[in-house]
Amino acid sequence: MSVQITFVQDWDGQEVVAQAEIGETLVQVAGRAGVVIQQTCGGAPSCTDCRVKVLEGQNDGFEPLEFAEKNLMGNVYFLTHERLACQAVVRGSSKVIVYKRVRREKEKVVLKNKAK
Ligand code: FES
Repeated sequence: MSVQITFVQDWDGQEVVAQAEIGETLVQVAGRAGVVIQQTCGGAPSCTDCRVKVLEGQNDGFEPLEFAEKNLMGNVYFLTHERLACQAVVRGSSKVIVYKRVRREKEKVVLKNKAK
C-alpha cells in the first residue's frame, strides 16, 4: 500500500511530495525523492543529524519509537514531535519539516564541487 509523505524545507517552505511504501524508513523515502537528509552515522543510530519535525501524521504516520531512538531523542516526542528519519518507519501519510542545517551540509557539497 502506498502513502504520501510531504517534506517541507524549513528555510524556504518549499514542499516535496513523495510516495512511500508502508515499512520504509523516512530516509529511504527522502532519498528516492531527492530530499537530502544528513546522516553522519549512517543510521547506526548515534548522531541525531537526521532529525525531522512531524507536522501531520504525528499519531499514525509512523511506527512508535523504539529503544535506540528513544535513547537518543528522549521520551518527549509528544512535545517535540521530532523523529530520527533513519529510524522512523512509515505506516501512513505524513508531513515533516527538514531542518536548515541539512541544507547547509548540502551547500557545502555544492560549493566544494564548484571549486573543482
Ligand atoms: S543518521 Fe544518525 S541518527 Fe539517523
